Amino acid sequence: MGYSRLRLEHRSEPFFKKGSENSKKLRQNIYKKYFGGFRENKNFPEYSRPTLLAANCQPLAANNTMNNNFDPDYPQVKRTYTPEEAGHEKRRRPVSRYSVKRIKKKKPNPGVLLLVLVFAAIFAVTIYLIASGKSRTELPADTTDYFSDSVTDQTVTTDDGLPYTVITVPSEQMYYGDLILVNSQNEYFFPEAAEQNIVDIKSAKNEYYGLSSYSTGLSKNVIEQFNTLCTDYYNYSGFKWMQVNSAYRSKQEQIDLYAEYTELYGADYAKAYVATPGFSEHHTGLALDLNVNVDGSIYYVESYEGCDWFRENAKNYGFILRYPDDKVHMTGISYESWHYRYVGTPHSQIMSDMNFCLEEYINYLKNYTYDTVCLGYDAATGVRDIPGGEEYDGGVMIYYVPCEGEETKVKVPKNSEYTVSGNNVDGFVVTVK
Ligand code: DAL
Ligand code: ZN
Repeated sequence: MGYSRLRLEHRSEPFFKKGSENSKKLRQNIYKKYFGGFRENKNFPEYSRPTLLAANCQPLAANNTMNNNFDPDYPQVKRTYTPEEAGHEKRRRPVSRYSVKRIKKKKPNPGVLLLVLVFAAIFAVTIYLIASGKSRTELPADTTDYFSDSVTDQTVTTDDGLPYTVITVPSEQMYYGDLILVNSQNEYFFPEAAEQNIVDIKSAKNEYYGLSSYSTGLSKNVIEQFNTLCTDYYNYSGFKWMQVNSAYRSKQEQIDLYAEYTELYGADYAKAYVATPGFSEHHTGLALDLNVNVDGSIYYVESYEGCDWFRENAKNYGFILRYPDDKVHMTGISYESWHYRYVGTPHSQIMSDMNFCLEEYINYLKNYTYDTVCLGYDAATGVRDIPGGEEYDGGVMIYYVPCEGEETKVKVPKNSEYTVSGNNVDGFVVTVK
């Protein structure tokens, strides 16, 4: 069996330490929280998880190939959810300067009624403005409202009449968008717009993949893209055993996870596999940990034969493997074959073509600015240079804009559809499609 070098290394890592009551409790907690409670019983042998997975993998990988033994009707393991697990909105929320203030439900009182009336009036005026052609996206280009527009829809169709349109992007936008780089150097700031976009996976998923009991939320758009990916995957191969094992995590959940890993495996191991709380992609709603769950047996996506299509095609739906084994020195995180991140197309495809991890890609994009050379991309021909944004004549064009302070003027080609994502470091990436 051809297990990779890293898998062999994994196999030597103790997943469960035999011994103390504490360890047993932690082991049960970990099962419950991170592996969907699979095989959570006292007779379960205290092997290392990777060893166990490898052991499980052997017979199934050998017997179940995509073409002859996968049964599309093989029953997906059904899990029941406690109210705590099911109710994403009940989970603790991070507190930060961008956090949403949750308002507790109370009996209506006159003050509340007055507020409702005020909001109704604002709503009516907004509808009137939109109906009379004065919606925000149609305001003159120099509006400073870009960020609030981007909360609900990042894609804006620009006005006509200028060689390019200038939009004003507030600095907060730097911390929001599909291309934000979150790592040990770049903290995540929980922008309100991103928090509001997190939805319960259970309520938004389709039937072509499963959830562990610990899975919570993802950014709305990411679930939609993942649904499409898994639908196509199913249509191609009948495979529907992909499982989202862990996705959105609040800062507190990351703190708990870090502490558990530290206690179970020691500080070095925790540091290698768990991001410092506040610096984890799992806070963003753009990252998801995946495995395969066939009738309660868990496998790595990396080595499960039926996952070939998924591994090869995830990039066409905007997903990248975030912590590859040849980029550990740049990501600062050990190889994680299960951690996928949404960055959107064509970025995922370019990164794959050029073998860039996100750190490299964000850095690489700084070579491209609107007034110098922009990055063009075509799936058939790959990347190319587009000299000067003014010469844009359709297709994909990507460029970087450094943040100039509280507000940054950003040029975009006229009559184009574009998105502006922060890079969470020092600027923005414009993607014109
Ligand atoms: N396992 C990844 C690095 C995280 O904790 O965010
Ligand atoms: Zn992860």
